[in-house]
Amino acid sequence: MVITIDGPAGAGKTTVSRGLADRLGYRYIDTGALYRGVALAARKKRIATDDDIGLEALCRDLRLRFIRNADGCRLYDGDDDIEDQIRTPEMSMLASAISARSVVRRFLLDVQRQFGREKGAVFEGRDMGTVVFPDADLKFFLEAPLEVRARRRHRELNGRSDQSLDGVLKDMQRRDHNDQTRVLAPLKPAADAVVINSENLTADAVVERMMMEIKMLEAKLRNHGSTEGS
Ligand code: DC
Repeated sequence: MVITIDGPAGAGKTTVSRGLADRLGYRYIDTGALYRGVALAARKKRIATDDDIGLEALCRDLRLRFIRNADGCRLYDGDDDIEDQIRTPEMSMLASAISARSVVRRFLLDVQRQFGREKGAVFEGRDMGTVVFPDADLKFFLEAPLEVRARRRHRELNGRSDQSLDGVLKDMQRRDHNDQTRVLAPLKPAADAVVINSENLTADAVVERMMMEIKMLEAKLRNHGSTEGS
């Protein structure tokens, strides 16, 4: 199966996607990391977020790939491990700005679909169920109130940034606004997505809830197969 998990920052997508992929023995692909990878390269080369020609050339030269090691999945550009560099508040905002550009979305659409050619994967992002994999077997949309998401992100950043809780909340609000109002592939649940509010659920509980949906789908497919065969 191809399973998609979309939602805003801090809704718990990463922990849940990893947990679900582990349970199923699937690959897990964090597509936000790819946008962050483009943003980091643009900053290093001083390419502005509205310089479409510069961004197009930049994308052509990028060699983004995920390498799995004991710490999980890390993003590389060629031989450079860029995982730590892409996880800063600055890269969050820049990735959000750059993700509104059609040259970048077009480039990453191909990259993401390549990853999806082999089935058995959980994709997390903003437009996985709406645009990248509209025919995914199962789509989830994970949400939680802004304040809850900001508190979670602030805790996660602990030690890596001195940003205050209020700063994290304001950045998140701006990023939500950018991601939801952009013209191309805005953040929204797919019409056929299962929407889960993670506010009062642990990550394990969300994974359980998703596993229930997967089992229901598997049973439906089995039934369908047996009625077709009879
Ligand atoms: O999931 P994340 O916080 O790492 O994503 C960083 C930014 O990348 C996010 O604010 C919007 C963009 N993004 C996107 O436009 N489409 C995706 N599928 C994933 C991320």
